[in-house]
Amino acid sequence: MVGILEDKDRIFTNLYGLHDWGLEGAKRRGAWNGTRLILEQSPEWVCDQVKASGLRGRGGAGFSTGLKWTFMPKSEGERPHYLVINADESEPGTCKDREILRNDPHLLIEGALIASYAIRAHACYIYIRGEYVHERERLEAAIKQAYEAKLIGKGNVHGWDFDLFVTHGGGAYICGDETALMESLEGKKGQPRLKPPFPAGAGIYGCPTTINNVESISVVGTILRRGASWFAGFGRPNNTGTKLMAISGHVNQPCVVEETMSIPLKQLLEDHCGGVRGGWGNLKAVIPGGSSVRMIPAHEAETALMDFDSLSSLKSGLGTAAVIVMDQSTDIVRAIARLSYFYKHESCGQCTPCREGTGWMWRVMERMATGEADMKEIDMLLDVASQIEGHTICGLGDAAAWPIQGLFRHFRHEVEERITNYRAGRPHVQGASLQ
Ligand code: NAI
Ligand code: SF4
Repeated sequence: MVGILEDKDRIFTNLYGLHDWGLEGAKRRGAWNGTRLILEQSPEWVCDQVKASGLRGRGGAGFSTGLKWTFMPKSEGERPHYLVINADESEPGTCKDREILRNDPHLLIEGALIASYAIRAHACYIYIRGEYVHERERLEAAIKQAYEAKLIGKGNVHGWDFDLFVTHGGGAYICGDETALMESLEGKKGQPRLKPPFPAGAGIYGCPTTINNVESISVVGTILRRGASWFAGFGRPNNTGTKLMAISGHVNQPCVVEETMSIPLKQLLEDHCGGVRGGWGNLKAVIPGGSSVRMIPAHEAETALMDFDSLSSLKSGLGTAAVIVMDQSTDIVRAIARLSYFYKHESCGQCTPCREGTGWMWRVMERMATGEADMKEIDMLLDVASQIEGHTICGLGDAAAWPIQGLFRHFRHEVEERITNYRAGRPHVQGASLQ
């Protein structure tokens, strides 16, 4: 089923903060309803249901959530198990988890309890972006309510001892990488670790750990209440469920909205955002999944679906489903140069291709944006981008390469024209950018 989501099928019923975010309001909207019955089932049953729902990680990578849980050891053993929730939402354009933390924190807390039970963990850390100060306060208040109501904690009404700790980052994008996040949680400098070992084998303090995104955990309670097949009924095979999508840039009404997976991108923008500023014909390009995926031009956006398969077939990606819309007024070369600066700035510097390459790419992109670059630097830049891609410890190297590759795939002619004009004494007048 692909189509517009009806209100009755929305998981996040307080996305816009119109209702009570607290425990009583959350209960009225369905949270904490039947949680005990869920925890009376076996951990294997919980994992199987989440697998059957088709839920794929909502943080950007799209790995099967239920499958990830099954990687954890089947018994508690000598090493404690941990759940870590990645609330370090920092991907440019992405602001969906923020709305959950602000307006529906009990869905996250309930999901954390259920997920911890499924992976046999008695403790969960929520690592929240440092800048999300009010969201952290709201979350901590909701956790306090859950403790006081004995919904979590030792000897809670659900029969699974469970403690929840909130910790916050210090403003580094790289700490959103799951292994850098673990280093940071342990009090060390936030630098990614090599994988394998994956966290289920050796996570925080060397113990079995599962790391999931805020949205992935927050949907679990509703999936188990309504049934795996209910969730799997949205979207299309391999791309199931509902999803929070954050739309920004040149639309008439930027917003965060929960929609069915596989909704046509054009329909998403027209139904929820009042369309592209100046009409669809004024669209230049879209970055559909947060800054770390390649852009798609308007003619591809016309038929793209908001899901993993459709967008990867266009050499882009669903990522975090943060849709950045750019109309014809956008200086698209400058916009990508600005993103290049972001990745250069956020590189942890641990591996050479990323440390040196991101700075090099940014400097060349700056000259591309003004037209001062040499024509032969285009292929050199693409060569360097491909040398970085896949050759670094974490995904930041790829993320720095992909926006540039996307630019040249679709708008190489604009860069060439800019260079030619500059040589002819007609320097480029800087237009709008993502800044
Ligand atoms: P990844 O594909 O390496 O891993 C995804 C998840 O699956 C991880 O938890 C990993 O441990 C697990 N996994 C993958 N292969 C496995 C295996 N063979 N065995 C066991 N577990 C396995 O992707 P990564 O680097 O964790 O995430 C990259 C994504 O993060 C990007 O696509 C980007 O869109 C997104 N991102 C999101 C941000 C945000 O603010 N939400 C910020 C930056 C990036
Ligand atoms: Fe650090 Fe970049 Fe290497 Fe990731 S790819 S570990 S951010 S230097």
